[in-house]
Amino acid sequence: MKRQPFIAGNWKMNKTGQQAVETATQLARLCSDIKDIEVMIAPANLSLALVAQAIQGTTVKLGAQNLYFEQQGAFTGEVSADMVKAAGAEYILVGHSERRQYFGETDEAVNRKIAAALGVGLKPVLCIGETLAQRKQENTYLILDKQVSDGLKGFGLEELSNLVLAYEPVWAIGTGQTAGIEQVEAVHQHLRSLLESLFSKDLADRTRIVYGGSVKPENVKKIMAIEDVDGALVGGASLDADKFINIIKYNG
Ligand code: 13P
Repeated sequence: MKRQPFIAGNWKMNKTGQQAVETATQLARLCSDIKDIEVMIAPANLSLALVAQAIQGTTVKLGAQNLYFEQQGAFTGEVSADMVKAAGAEYILVGHSERRQYFGETDEAVNRKIAAALGVGLKPVLCIGETLAQRKQENTYLILDKQVSDGLKGFGLEELSNLVLAYEPVWAIGTGQTAGIEQVEAVHQHLRSLLESLFSKDLADRTRIVYGGSVKPENVKKIMAIEDVDGALVGGASLDADKFINIIKYNG
């Protein structure tokens, strides 16, 4: 099955609104001839509406990095799925390792966030990944399986039709160290089989499984050539439009 490549930039806690608009505008210009690849950027929540306006009518899609699962109320500092959607986002990152690591996000919270996102029609990008210690203890699949099955617990095939799964080994994020080709290949293959056993062959075939962790213009081609890798989630190298476009146009 042919899956459209998905290349996304996670800007994390970088850029003011104005800086985000500048980069997004520049990127949208550079992406004007892109047809076969879906490009998404996820600026900080505070910049969503501004960036939405800047990229309106272009080929670049908008995503958010986080939301809270409650619909509204006394949750100081949080934003709801509704707010994210109204600001113009189409995608939402859920369960990024930095959220899990620094903000104590559990698989249960991830599950509730996905439910909230689906409730307003946001497309979830479920981020999963093992730490170095977990890999060394040979617990990689155990961890990933739990993150996927608990994160997606209770959802039906229809609800998950727009799911993107992002495999980001924690030890490869922002370290300059990418996972080896064989490691990525094995994990992505494993994840596709897992989706088949948890849901259906059709869903497994259709779901894009993307890789994240020190993806750069220099290594993207090799990574994208791996079977079962359907795209990339890029942190640091997505902050600069000229650099990011060289990742997006990995095929020349
Ligand atoms: P880096 O590309 O900076 O390693 O970050 C990856 C990431 O966490 C994307 O979500």
